[in-house]
Amino acid sequence: MSTILVTGGTGNLGGQVVTRLRDAGHEVRVLSRHAPDHPVDLRDGKGLDAAMAGAEVVVHCASSPRGGDEAAAERLIDAARRAGTVGNLVYISIVGVDVVPFGYYESKRKVEQLLEASGLGVTILRTTQFHDLVAQVVGMAARLPLVPLPAGVRVQPIAVEEVADRLAELAVPTPSGRVPDMGGPQIRTLQELGRAYLSATGRRRRVVPLPLWGKAYAGFRRGGNLTPSHSSGHVTFAEYLAGRGR
Ligand SMILES: NC(=O)c1ccc[n+]([C@@H]2O[C@H](COP(=O)([O-])OP(=O)(O)OC[C@H]3O[C@@H](n4cnc5c(N)ncnc54)[C@H](OP(=O)(O)O)[C@@H]3O)[C@@H](O)[C@H]2O)c1
Repeated sequence: MSTILVTGGTGNLGGQVVTRLRDAGHEVRVLSRHAPDHPVDLRDGKGLDAAMAGAEVVVHCASSPRGGDEAAAERLIDAARRAGTVGNLVYISIVGVDVVPFGYYESKRKVEQLLEASGLGVTILRTTQFHDLVAQVVGMAARLPLVPLPAGVRVQPIAVEEVADRLAELAVPTPSGRVPDMGGPQIRTLQELGRAYLSATGRRRRVVPLPLWGKAYAGFRRGGNLTPSHSSGHVTFAEYLAGRGR
């Protein structure tokens, strides 16, 4: 049994990691701004040392696309050094953070670099987009009479449960470094996924390809967000949608 701190343990992925680790008998501490036990904002770090004391493993799932992830990672690394007990700091990253020049991805790449240079034992897993995120994106577009989705962009969505299984497996005191990427079982265009979403939610709308511009869009169009050689996830987007309806 280990003492494990899960940052972002109240989030979609973090919550599922917490459940798995507790079920396996570990002592798990949940940290986030709104967590009841360890309400810590990683951007200022107040209360972080108490949450970290004696932790052997940290699973870092906390993140905000609005910014602040690099400052948060610096605080986390400093606290882990001070604690002196952390053998493995496990980080969840995204496939393509090094090749798609999208602001959020660039900050996740910087966090990877901070961890790699920290001298601490680290494990880094990059995965593709979760089904929930894709459903959220196409769901927002599906509110419109014509459903506009970026043209030429393919995604390889994966079930968050499968990512949580893998993170729980990696959350041991011995670090693994950068581990193989993990992607979903199928690569589909956003238009195809949009049509699957519309059909699963019983709506009849036309999906229209929306051409965009800019470096980030070009990076997605080139498929930088895909990992065809690591399609280790099993649950397809259609299966995810069918499960949501139950
Ligand atoms: N969603 C995807 O498709 C996807 C794909 C690959 C990798 N990932 C990565 O997986 C991780 C989790 O994603 P998710 O979709 O589960 O996100 P989520 O549901 O939005 O969860 C984010 C978590 O971070 C916490 N948090 C945010 N800012 C914080 C701060 N300043 N200090 C402390 N806690 C903070 C949030 O809780 P509070 O609001 O209570 O602070 C929440 O628990 C992220 O690193 C993300 O980049 C996501």
